[in-house]
Amino acid sequence: MTTVIDGKTISASVIEAVTASATALEQETGIRPGLAVVIVGDDPASHAYVASKGRMAKQCGFHSVQHTLPVETTQEALLKLVGELNADPAIHGILVQLPLPKHLDSEPVIQSILPEKDVDGLHVVNAGKLATGDLETGLLSCTPAGSMLLVRTIHGADLSGLNAVVIGRSNLFGKPMGQLLLNANATVTMAHSRTRDLAAICRTADILVAAVGRPHMVKADWVKPGATVIDVGINRVPAPDKGEGKTRLIGDVAYAEVAEIAGAITPVPGGVGPMTIAMLMANTVIAAHLILG
Ligand code: GUN
Repeated sequence: MTTVIDGKTISASVIEAVTASATALEQETGIRPGLAVVIVGDDPASHAYVASKGRMAKQCGFHSVQHTLPVETTQEALLKLVGELNADPAIHGILVQLPLPKHLDSEPVIQSILPEKDVDGLHVVNAGKLATGDLETGLLSCTPAGSMLLVRTIHGADLSGLNAVVIGRSNLFGKPMGQLLLNANATVTMAHSRTRDLAAICRTADILVAAVGRPHMVKADWVKPGATVIDVGINRVPAPDKGEGKTRLIGDVAYAEVAEIAGAITPVPGGVGPMTIAMLMANTVIAAHLILG
């Protein structure tokens, strides 16, 4: 029988710990963790994500602000807002929702966020700390950190002797995920769109992590029996069975068939998704502690 890794329950315990930590920080120092989320344009999926981040921040007892900028916002205006948030002592965490509209260049915007307020863990200082094995003094990218917590529930903290395969090499997920697995002593293979014989490489994995954005790409015959499968994909597809024009979220893993083979698997929704928001809240409370030095 496969173990279904319940991200909802695990993220709820992270949120409980974050709320307790925020309450204690405020009682002891008067500092209330503050999170600013910046969104440009009107992509409905991004607005839904940002709204749930704001709701969760309030639930954790944080000071929570959202800056909604019109799609025609200039690079200069966005950089100016980030500069103001950098200087605002009530704000400890800044997240600029990605992707940005096409005329904006996200990289200079991300790099303009103060590293100690970069709750996405995307600034080169934070990415560099992770790459050099410093997991203590920086901020970790939320989805990889949350995925690692899920892996730990099955394998513990030390992954010595285990083969991990990550499909996807983005800065937002694949690269930091590979580094976290490596730091936990796994033997890591990074696979991507140019990889040859992906199925055979995936079959070597004791821990298989899929982050490609292709619905149900990973099939049962890609999976080693007993492997732990972490599905990072969030793909919205038509669901005519639910009614005309309806959609549903599915992962990068063909869940029903892979669940027959895997030792443990994350569902979509309810696996990695809730962990990302929980780790964003954890990073915000960490960032509020960082200013204490
Ligand atoms: N868009 C989708 N996921 C993320 C994320 O983790 N951070 C940001 N900033 N934007 C995203």
